[in-house]
Amino acid sequence: MSEKKHQVSRRQFLNYTLTGVGGFMASAALMPMVRFALDPVLKDYSGGDFVATGTKVDDITTEPVSVDFVVEQVDAWYESDEPKSAWVYKDDNGEIVALSPICQHLGCTVNWNGDSANQNMFFCPCHNGLYKKNGKNVEGTPPPSPLLKYETKVKDGILLLGKANPQNL
Ligand code: FES
Repeated sequence: MSEKKHQVSRRQFLNYTLTGVGGFMASAALMPMVRFALDPVLKDYSGGDFVATGTKVDDITTEPVSVDFVVEQVDAWYESDEPKSAWVYKDDNGEIVALSPICQHLGCTVNWNGDSANQNMFFCPCHNGLYKKNGKNVEGTPPPSPLLKYETKVKDGILLLGKANPQNL
């Protein structure tokens, strides 16, 4: 094999160098765009995470109280804080119950003892919907199903709330 075959001409050298540098610069410019396009796919959004409410478990009684908390909402590239609330109390066994205040009829907000004629019940003022204390919808009123129930956890004496799930009552 002759020595000449392996020599690189000045033109070839410039071609290789410029192609390499150009490719590097193009990839540096394209990487952020690719990253931006794929970001929501690559991120690990663990649904069902628990959120601290700031409510001390010791302060929770058998009387439902409204507890506010904030959930970080992720919708593709858009992240926002969504304010939420729950009706929280301890049942007869001392277990914490956290119910969604969203009426299962058309989405109004229910109130505890909101109707003087129906005490110890959740009342929806929009169409006079009623729910028992455990969230079961009262037959003969508009709501078709029980209030959703939040998953609960306790950490350092503070109530944490997770996903709201349908109840089979
Ligand atoms: S929205 Fe609650 S009863 Fe209709």
